[in-house]
Amino acid sequence: MTILITGGTGLVGSRLLRQFVDAGVDCRALVRPGKEVPAGATRVEGDLLDAATLQQAVEGVSAIVHLAAVFRTQNDDEIWRANLDGTKKLIAAVKAHAPQARFIMASTGLVYDANATHPGLEEDETHPTLAYPASKIAAEKELRESGLNWSILRLGFVYGDGDGHLASVPPIVARFKWHPAKTFSLIHQRDVAGAVELALTGAMDGQVVNICDDAPASLYEMARLVGSPIEASAEPLVDPWMGRMDGSKLRSFGFSPKVPTVYQASREGIL
Ligand SMILES: NC(=O)c1ccc[n+]([C@@H]2O[C@H](COP(=O)([O-])OP(=O)(O)OC[C@H]3O[C@@H](n4cnc5c(N)ncnc54)[C@H](OP(=O)(O)O)[C@@H]3O)[C@@H](O)[C@H]2O)c1
Repeated sequence: MTILITGGTGLVGSRLLRQFVDAGVDCRALVRPGKEVPAGATRVEGDLLDAATLQQAVEGVSAIVHLAAVFRTQNDDEIWRANLDGTKKLIAAVKAHAPQARFIMASTGLVYDANATHPGLEEDETHPTLAYPASKIAAEKELRESGLNWSILRLGFVYGDGDGHLASVPPIVARFKWHPAKTFSLIHQRDVAGAVELALTGAMDGQVVNICDDAPASLYEMARLVGSPIEASAEPLVDPWMGRMDGSKLRSFGFSPKVPTVYQASREGIL
């Protein structure tokens, strides 16, 4: 079984690739010019936006794990281009050259409405306005309607194995003026790999699934865990469910996180 991973140089993809290669999975990685892949993975040079490079990437694979995306920018055009146009081009390449392959796409828990009355459920209607979640919802729709064998994994805030993501919390709070009590559903890098592994068995075929651990944490707590405390606030929190997802559907497939809380990750030294 050969798997194509897109986004293999990113925070999530580089760790996923490492874990899969170490587990003996035959991995192919689509990377842009000048970028490398971990030893043991097959490098295919290309770009989501360059359709001509995608045939070689997808031919002969039994599954695609589509992680490549753009979201750490304020350039909305770039976000839409990569996340929607890029995904459309990848879907077209898979339809043409690997139509039997299982297509697993990473989406985000940020698609759920900020003023929701409960943690996001997969069947909730979503109306994201910001470019990142809106482009992901549009890409989800393309994939759901593609006729391919798809699954969509809506990831919580991914952290762990030295990715530095938790350390980005204080600057993010400052930039977006987020309330320190805002609480996010989280998922450790090792459990992203576990969830993708489960999706590769077919357990999530034709499904949208929230991927999160057992205990959300506030921005305030996350910042303290990485030794960069942020200021507390006495203001009320107006959107308590923003960033929160319900993880029961994933549990119904038999998934149990190896790292159930960020506090356990801290104790184990795997933040
Ligand atoms: N990290 C999280 O907390 C989190 C939470 C929810 C969902 N997700 C989802 O998980 C996925 C991975 O996130 P991440 O944190 O690993 O992102 P990241 O660190 O920003 O990495 C993005 C990856 O996408 C690649 N990429 C971007 N545009 C491309 C293009 N046109 N052609 C080919 N490759 C392209 C980048 O390649 P270059 O190295 O060449 O730039 C990089 O490998 C994304 O789909 C994201 O929406 C992440």
